[in-house]
Amino acid sequence: MAEYLIAGNWKMNGLRAELAEAERTAAEEIADNCRVLICPPAVLLPQMTALLDGSMVRLGAQDCHPEDSGAFTGDISAPMLAESGASYVIVGHSERRLSYRESNNLVRRKMQAAWRAGLTAILCVGETETERNSGHAHAVVGQQFAECTPEDSTADKLVIAYEPVWAIGTGRSASGEEIADMHGFLREEASRHFGPGQEIPILYGGSVKGDNAAEIFSIADVNGALVGGASLRAADFIRIIRSVPVAQA
Ligand code: PGA
Repeated sequence: MAEYLIAGNWKMNGLRAELAEAERTAAEEIADNCRVLICPPAVLLPQMTALLDGSMVRLGAQDCHPEDSGAFTGDISAPMLAESGASYVIVGHSERRLSYRESNNLVRRKMQAAWRAGLTAILCVGETETERNSGHAHAVVGQQFAECTPEDSTADKLVIAYEPVWAIGTGRSASGEEIADMHGFLREEASRHFGPGQEIPILYGGSVKGDNAAEIFSIADVNGALVGGASLRAADFIRIIRSVPVAQA
């Protein structure tokens, strides 16, 4: 397993003209201890797959439906994403939890759909500012992890992304202490759920930029980043990729 995963979430940004940004990222030499992932809007997946063929950059999707097919107008299933070239899918992003009232139960079913299709699920968890200020951050994040992760699942094909809602798109990333504390907590929860020694990557997300990435990657239990705004331009994204610590010999 690469030690660091740098995942770019383009959200609802990117027309065909922006394929060039992904191409620029793909032209970057990527260290052996780093895996780079771009999650573009689903409609760009087939073109990006063709464009990035042979490169080190992997592709992911931003969401999937819990069912594999059926009468669900407007939705996209995990097998469709896999066929379009995705090998990862983000589930439970806070923007979907808030805008579409996605429950932990629904997110769990999406994870199962992702796994049925052979995709790696990136499970997003994170507290709101009110929840943090009232001292409930661990309780909320712990409950999201527990309720979204199926009992019988294995640690394979799972990535956790800790994204405090108040840090997303605000330019105000969580502090080093806050990140270390929550990642340590999630590491313990994961080892309780899956058994000790399981190396589940835990990413941090929320206002990761070129100028704070190196510091964030130096924090214990941080295995990479889920990057929104700063993943849209290759120049910004590459600065983050280059911030991954050099592998120890
Ligand atoms: P941001 O978004 O980097 O723009 O804060 C992160 C995310 O939502 O995954």
